Amino acid sequence: MSSYLLEGGQRLEGEIKISGSKNAALPVLAATALLEGCYRIENVPLIDDIRTLLEILRSLGAEVEFLPEGTVLIDSSTINNCTAISERVGKLRGSYYLLGALLGRFGEVQLRLPGGCDFGRRPIDLHLKGLRQLGAEIIEEECVVYCRCSELTGSNIFLDIVSVGATANIMLAAARAKGTTTIYNAAREPHIVDLANFLNAMGARIQGAGTDIIRIRGRAAFRPTGSYSIIPDQIEAGTYLAMAALTAGDIALRNVIPSHLDALIAKLREMGVDFEIGEEEVRAMRAPHTALTATNFVTAPYPGFPTDLQPQMMVLLTQAAGVGKVTENVWNNRFQYIPGLKQLGARIVTQGRSAFVTGPVQFTGSRVAAYDLRAGAAMVMAGLVSSGTTEIANIELIERGYENFVAKMLQLGAKIIKREEPMTNITEIDFVS
Ligand code: UD1
Repeated sequence: MSSYLLEGGQRLEGEIKISGSKNAALPVLAATALLEGCYRIENVPLIDDIRTLLEILRSLGAEVEFLPEGTVLIDSSTINNCTAISERVGKLRGSYYLLGALLGRFGEVQLRLPGGCDFGRRPIDLHLKGLRQLGAEIIEEECVVYCRCSELTGSNIFLDIVSVGATANIMLAAARAKGTTTIYNAAREPHIVDLANFLNAMGARIQGAGTDIIRIRGRAAFRPTGSYSIIPDQIEAGTYLAMAALTAGDIALRNVIPSHLDALIAKLREMGVDFEIGEEEVRAMRAPHTALTATNFVTAPYPGFPTDLQPQMMVLLTQAAGVGKVTENVWNNRFQYIPGLKQLGARIVTQGRSAFVTGPVQFTGSRVAAYDLRAGAAMVMAGLVSSGTTEIANIELIERGYENFVAKMLQLGAKIIKREEPMTNITEIDFVS
């Protein structure tokens, strides 16, 4: 049981390099199971979700090597098993990409249902509906789903809800189907584009990724060549930009694609934050003693405001003057972390899908827990502006998605310590040692 201890009141300043995108690396790594061959994937974040997916690929027979600096070598020609039902498969959401990948390659897959953060209901009915339309027979049991087909055939698939996972899974299977598949109402997230770019670089024929209509001309066989570099993580980048805004700081990020952050930057500007934007850099600044102003935002699929930055923005609104309104339109239950913020002093009232936040309030350090990955990052942010010391438990959830989190926070001037055992008295910590 490890935890973070944070001393509040520091202004975060400095420059850090953003890691590769977790949500792009997961489908790309799973996609190596679709095509037999040797891969070199660069800019892969070394975080727990990625380690788990690589272990799963190994358990299927792949040869996997993680080199320093985020390069992963995978030989998927040795995969000889399409059953992934161990407990670790249920640890992360991204394991569901093996459905499309293994079905596309072997015509068969048996997968434990994916886990991931608890945002309420997280069905995969649209993934399965799409795969059925390509010709798969599917049996669903309580924790396991079994898919098989004699042949996959291209089809026109309309997604009732914009789903990142369903779009990617259908793209994967359709890349090896006979004929053309068209996905209507497809997700447009940068990681969908990254998966399409990766598959195309390996010989697939996918057009329209980044729009809501994606066309995939299937090929029975194609062989991967060369290396591929994962896009930077826009949610990690967004979290650090929000920290600059929160602490009246000055943070410059390297290795980012600024356009992926447009929705966040627009909202932070409304709140009083200044930006310098380069080709692959973004710098966020707020002068000390200038106030943040409350704003409203609604989460939506890309290019809307990302739901994965909703908890971080919630913390920011607690420090902004006025009443801000947050509407969560992607997940049906993504406010479950709010009681933790209230414990520190937040004034938030929820009403259905909306939360009303009154600020600014002074937080008082206390013992809290990460509810999920992004809510955990939000709790760290709350600790940054709390008086005294805050202890955040369940940090395994944070480390599922943020590479070198403590090192990057220290580089920016935060006073943060990782403890393997919870403290008995959190007021007696020496942050200097
Ligand atoms: C991915 C991200 C997650 C992010 C989410 C939305 C990964 C590993 N996770 O999750 O961090 O919050 O996108 O940007 O990339 N839905 C259905 N049926 C389905 C699939 C989805 O009803 O079969 C609904 C979900 O309940 C949700 C909405 O569609 O309300 C969007 O979900 P989806 O885009 O599929 O999210 P994930 O791919 O699971």
